Amino acid sequence: MNIKQVEDKCFMHTYKRGELIVKKAKNQFVWDEKGVKYLDFMSGISVCNVGHCNNAVIKAMKVQLDKFVHVSNLYYAPAQIRLGREIAKRAFPGAKVFFSNSGAEANECAIKLARKWGMQNPSKKGSRYEIICFINSFHGRTMATISATGQKKFHEYLKPLQEGFVFAEINNINSVEKLINDKTVAVMIEPIQGESGVIPCDKMFLKELRNVCDKKNLLLIFDEIQCGVGRTGKFYAFENYDVEPDIVTMAKSLANGFPLGATVGGKRCAESFIYGDHGSTFGGNPVACAASLAVLKIINSKFLNNSVKIAKYFYEKLEILKRKYKIIKEIRGLGLMIGVDLAVNGNNIVNYCLNRGLIINCTNNTVVRLLPPLTITKKDVDCAIKILDEALAHVV
Ligand SMILES: Cc1ncc(COP(=O)(O)O)c(C=O)c1O
Repeated sequence: MNIKQVEDKCFMHTYKRGELIVKKAKNQFVWDEKGVKYLDFMSGISVCNVGHCNNAVIKAMKVQLDKFVHVSNLYYAPAQIRLGREIAKRAFPGAKVFFSNSGAEANECAIKLARKWGMQNPSKKGSRYEIICFINSFHGRTMATISATGQKKFHEYLKPLQEGFVFAEINNINSVEKLINDKTVAVMIEPIQGESGVIPCDKMFLKELRNVCDKKNLLLIFDEIQCGVGRTGKFYAFENYDVEPDIVTMAKSLANGFPLGATVGGKRCAESFIYGDHGSTFGGNPVACAASLAVLKIINSKFLNNSVKIAKYFYEKLEILKRKYKIIKEIRGLGLMIGVDLAVNGNNIVNYCLNRGLIINCTNNTVVRLLPPLTITKKDVDCAIKILDEALAHVV
């Protein structure tokens, strides 16, 4: 049996995999088993932000591997503690961290923290637990995070969902205000919706959201699992908006491919958790934390400024394609989180590009999503644009 047949026989069929069988990956490139080289403009869905097998990250992991892999959270692992300090330092005053292993877990922790805080800060009618989420959001695949996800297609066979999540429209503050009641404890939002087609929130809307949360004594939670860790040209996406949340969640690129999630709570709520309230066997694994410390060292302001320059160049080139092809409806995004919204299904484009050596993906049927490593060069952009141009000509 070949690898595809084994997968078909032995795996639950939850993923629709592309034709690529990966042999190795380095920086912005991936090679298949036949040695064919691909330019990767997906970074494993916004995970390998500083490039595949980044030398400094691999070195840091090897150093930690030679010391120890796991001691549990019953003791202190210096790499984990150092990382907590670095993450908190970059967040907001009074920030405290909880480490987990994935995005869904980071959000699960944010939901639990908000509910604990809602118990300690009740309304006249008792504990507050309801979280206002958003239509078309995506927050993960656990029962709580999928219940917080505003896309019906994910809910079909899961009923009953978890109680306590209601849905407003992004960029519409009235729709949020209408949902606030005695049970409301928080608002949870992706500053840029990723899975539903790269849809950025308006700056004004997030500022209004902050004001509403302050006025009504609600927590503001930002899910930065896809858009965080430098993806938008700032370490935290919220820095682009001049709006500070009370809780921010990260995962994906935090350890550049090694599983790590983080929930960062600010001074209003971080002290709500006490001993025994939450936990994770693997959360904050020392090897993951060593990788993440190296990631944070790389993502300094010079690195980010460079990624913003490349992003600007990329948008200019994409705009030229937009003028050439009427099927491109809109190009949107922030930094190197880019969506090209098409008038047609984007899967043919994705497949064409893969055959020509460019890895991209399509989300929400019509949006070609581009999430390259933040280390790409103008030459890489030119190469991707050339292949995209051919792919667009092919489908028109
Ligand atoms: C915004 C957002 N939140 C949460 C998640 C879930 O992350 P994970 O798959 O690591 O559980 C994702 C994953 O795509 C995401 O994009």
